[in-house]
Amino acid sequence: MKKIQIALIGTALALCAPLALAQSATKIKVGLMLPASGTYAALGTAIENGFKLYVAEQGGKLGGREIEYARVDDESDPAKAVDNVNKLLKRDNVDVLVGTVHSGVATAMAKVAKETGTLFIDPNAGADAITGSMCAPTTFRSSFSMWQSAYAMGEVMAAKGYKNVVTITWKYAAGDESVRGFKEAFEKAGGKVVKELNVPFPNVEFQPLLTEIAATKPDAVYTFFAGAGAIKFVKDYAAAGLKKSIPLYGSGFLTDGTLEAQGADAEGLLTTSHYADGLGSARDNAFRQAYAKAYKMEPDVYAVQGYDAAQMLAIGLNAVKGDLTKKAEFAMALEKAKIDSPRGPFTLSRSHNPVQDIYLRQVVGKQNKIIGVASKALADPGRGCTM
Ligand code: BEZ
Repeated sequence: MKKIQIALIGTALALCAPLALAQSATKIKVGLMLPASGTYAALGTAIENGFKLYVAEQGGKLGGREIEYARVDDESDPAKAVDNVNKLLKRDNVDVLVGTVHSGVATAMAKVAKETGTLFIDPNAGADAITGSMCAPTTFRSSFSMWQSAYAMGEVMAAKGYKNVVTITWKYAAGDESVRGFKEAFEKAGGKVVKELNVPFPNVEFQPLLTEIAATKPDAVYTFFAGAGAIKFVKDYAAAGLKKSIPLYGSGFLTDGTLEAQGADAEGLLTTSHYADGLGSARDNAFRQAYAKAYKMEPDVYAVQGYDAAQMLAIGLNAVKGDLTKKAEFAMALEKAKIDSPRGPFTLSRSHNPVQDIYLRQVVGKQNKIIGVASKALADPGRGCTM
């Protein structure tokens, strides 16, 4: 190499070095869009706690860059969703979007994230479309699709010999899709959903529908409710005298983060979920200890999903050494990764949804105790994803 070429390369490197240094010195701003009020407020807190716990365990840095936060309370209100995402993107200039709990709000977030090419991690909302028809190279989910736990429960209830089931849920994407996933498996196995009952979200006036269930006399009931609504539903179901006569089943959200308030009315309920109490792995034990120490309470499925959202961000950021412009490399690292979750290790499907075991759990005291694996390494079909 000629002297002049060496000199030019030297100059170029000297010019680049401050740039690289400047980048590693700047912080990555994570936009947390979660509910801090309303029926899903506790779920938002658990997700945020889990996320921040993982980041704190890494010394506050991922991919060599310090993490800082901007936050909005999305109120689980789809009508305010686009304005709220834009607050994070335009007012706060966040680099990454993390959120949210409610499927209708998350779907709006996913759309804006896709249109703007912003990295987006969904730490709860299960709307099938997020990793289905709306899938994107920069969209990832650390939680589940509504189809997953519902489909697994359809198989469980069919295997128990139930023939006629009534479903009851909130009328919005998460409820509709939970019932659809349940029905797909249950009817494939010979059962029949005889009635689909709904209340508008976040309404908790269940009484007329409980009267209708009593009159219909199905073999069992399948339900999706979560947060404060799930607490009220389980209590009302027992108070109506139905718990003894018509067995109640649900996706795990029915009894997650709710048992303290549901008390004896939840005892014995069977649910399906990608997390359970009593897994007993070293990974889960360490997570539970750290969470209890940091927040003086037990973690639930939402805390795990928040923790894993941060882990997924770390995997991507480590692969690109903190350089978020390298989106293809970021995605490739996650597509190849085995994520070491407290729930058990999982990988991501082609459409970026966890491929994971779905546990069958039973409420014993204040715990959703694992009683088996209902569906091993269940992958959401990712319908409509053309990525
Ligand atoms: C949802 O809207 O996707 C959802 C909300 C709470 C728990 C699970 C799913």
